[in-house]
Amino acid sequence: MPIALRKARKADLDALVRIHTAAYPDDRDAAARRRGFERTGMGTFADTHVAVLDGEVAGHAFLRRSRAFFGGRPVALGAVASVGVAPEARGRGVGAALMAHLHRISEARGDALTMLYAFKRGFYDRLGYGPSRPATRLVLSPRAIPSSWRASVVHVGKGRLAEVRAVYASVAAGSTGWLARSDVWWTRWSSHPRRCVLGVDAPRGKGLRGYVSFFLEQRESHAETRLYVDELVAVGHDVRRALVGALGAMRDQVSEIELETAQGDPLCFALVDPDRLRFGTDVVEHAIGDVVTGPLVRVGSPARALEARGYLADGSVDLVVTDEDGAREAVGVDVRRGRGRARPGRTRDALEVDRRTFASLLFGGLAASDAHALGWLGGSDRAIARADAVLRLPAPAPVDRF
Ligand SMILES: CC(C)(COP(=O)(O)OP(=O)(O)OC[C@H]1O[C@@H](n2cnc3c(N)ncnc32)[C@H](O)[C@@H]1OP(=O)(O)O)[C@@H](O)C(=O)NCCC(=O)NCCS
Repeated sequence: MPIALRKARKADLDALVRIHTAAYPDDRDAAARRRGFERTGMGTFADTHVAVLDGEVAGHAFLRRSRAFFGGRPVALGAVASVGVAPEARGRGVGAALMAHLHRISEARGDALTMLYAFKRGFYDRLGYGPSRPATRLVLSPRAIPSSWRASVVHVGKGRLAEVRAVYASVAAGSTGWLARSDVWWTRWSSHPRRCVLGVDAPRGKGLRGYVSFFLEQRESHAETRLYVDELVAVGHDVRRALVGALGAMRDQVSEIELETAQGDPLCFALVDPDRLRFGTDVVEHAIGDVVTGPLVRVGSPARALEARGYLADGSVDLVVTDEDGAREAVGVDVRRGRGRARPGRTRDALEVDRRTFASLLFGGLAASDAHALGWLGGSDRAIARADAVLRLPAPAPVDRF
């Protein structure tokens, strides 16, 4: 029997909860999972799609409309999440059919890409998804933060949400992959009972110049306290140092801080004995964190993707993109004042890539020269250098996982 694909209905909820519980077997109870389907920060129940096999709901996935910033422009994307197939239906093509369905919907409504956070990267590789540059999650003693970075910070209460949103919006616009957040998202964000927010005031009461949001965690009374930074958003390096300095000032209470940074962030250079309370091994003497994978990205139409994102440098790039079925498409982009205009590609001196690599180059922060080093991209040194300059994006440090 063929696999049917459609939007979820309320009558499917019991089946959805059952499939979700098997696919994501953490300790969430049925009520929490039901709420997850009915209303979330990013979308609604109408964003849930199901696959039906032999008359039974056999798989589910979310496809939410969102926008994220790339090269200074907000780009329409389909945010894919909670892909799950019932145990009895595994290995029969349900997952692949569901994903193909989401891609058709996303492309038909004009999204430039789909994005997801995968723990099964192998499954998505063959569906055209390429990786993004990973982030670094620092784990450090607060005493590692230079005391000279301490400056005046304030508590940011719920009443200042509009100012928090304004700083986020201005920093997100220059980021790689930060989402344009919805009102519902922000309402949830600000109503989290355990969130602490510190900020740096702009002079003369003109809003905020930055904030750091974090959670303090202590497993039982008198146990050690850890500090998890949720997001650090600052306009200007001095503001960022002041916010990190404020975390350092928690040194008499907090044993360790976890803070995610973009790869290549210079913060590590300034840290003093960051691993002072931990010990190493023969292999790793001094670990100060983990490498964290970024989202996977997939592009439908190459020309649309090239026009949707912004660019930090002008120039032209020509590519021949091969898809999973071996079909080749020559496409080019001319960038003037940060905006790209797509055109049929010139095949002379073009770069050769597959669709996964193309997605990573456009939206994943992968440099053309790095793709070449991996054997993922062919082309002359000149064409590679040109693509490095034109397609370059700041290293992604995504804050919102979905
Ligand atoms: C991942 C999942 C959705 C796949 O669903 P499915 O219906 O069994 O997948 P399909 O039958 O469409 O499989 C497609 C192909 O991908 C392959 N595949 C699945 N997971 C894979 C992985 N991690 N690495 C490589 N290949 C994988 C399958 O073997 C199959 O290959 P085949 O066609 O050569 O046999 C399902 O296993 C599931 O619900 N897992 C638990 C939840 C989960 O991991 N979700 C993804 C979270 S990111």
